[in-house]
Amino acid sequence: MKKLYGVMGDPIKHSMSPDIHNDAFRRAGLMSEYVLFHVTSGHLGDAVRGARALGIGGFNVTVPHKTAIIPYLDEVDGLAGTIGAVNTVKNENGRLIGYNTDGPGYIRALKEKVRGTLADMHILLIGSGGAARGIFFSLMKDGVLQADICNRTLSKAEALIEDCPYGNGKSRALSLEEAGTRLQDYDIIIQTTSSGMSPLTDEVPLRFEGGLKGGVLVSDIIYNPLETEFLKQAGSKGAAVQNGVDMFVYQAALAFEIWTGIYPDTEAMRNIVLQKLGGI
Ligand code: ATR
Repeated sequence: MKKLYGVMGDPIKHSMSPDIHNDAFRRAGLMSEYVLFHVTSGHLGDAVRGARALGIGGFNVTVPHKTAIIPYLDEVDGLAGTIGAVNTVKNENGRLIGYNTDGPGYIRALKEKVRGTLADMHILLIGSGGAARGIFFSLMKDGVLQADICNRTLSKAEALIEDCPYGNGKSRALSLEEAGTRLQDYDIIIQTTSSGMSPLTDEVPLRFEGGLKGGVLVSDIIYNPLETEFLKQAGSKGAAVQNGVDMFVYQAALAFEIWTGIYPDTEAMRNIVLQKLGGI
């Protein structure tokens, strides 16, 4: 019998997840299918009960349900519970278990790009929303010694650092202005805000005042457009750059592994996403 997987969200129709997961199922020789579930906030509880009743193998959870889903699950993995957001649910013999692969997926993508050990790198995160929280907690859990956070609203960056149970408390909160003048201190700069996302593609969250450190990697979690204005400016200053396609691919790869025990071909996943986005 075919096993069913999917993604619950609102809006959902532009999701690329079915394309990459269905290709991965086919490559793995599995009789499974991944579909879109348009679930509005008022129907989340019913949708989860339906998933249980129908014996759905697992599902992803996206905006606006990543936090709201937690009370409907039987168990939440440690990191997902600490972050307070679940993007992947596995049905294990009727028990629904929640995971977060956004943060760990991002770390996996970052490790593919950096030379040397992530733990030794001096990292700057821009933004303090849900995406920044997942990435920051995952970095600190992974053993990174210091990841400073800058944000338009400074108090949110301070709260994020305060909330994090991992690491040694060395990380600092900065204003965007202060961060802009200290960019040369960092080996990795991670842009997690929505600034620069389509349709406001001219926006940048902060200006590159001064220079950048030699060998710096600048990473933006946005993939629409594929190259944000922020990445363009970083590239023109000599930085290595990474867009948000990798984070999307690796969160999916880790979810696929949780469901099937098989780590999929991430290059194939990346090619599908790039084709959909017009990048190849
Ligand atoms: P997500 O869950 O995608 O991270 P979010 O929780 O709404 O989204 O967080 C958005 C982040 O982008 C916040 O850090 C926000 O800054 P504030 O905390 O000051 O609101 C940041 N952000 C959004 N638009 C921005 C802009 N134009 N310039 C700088 N930061 C921006």
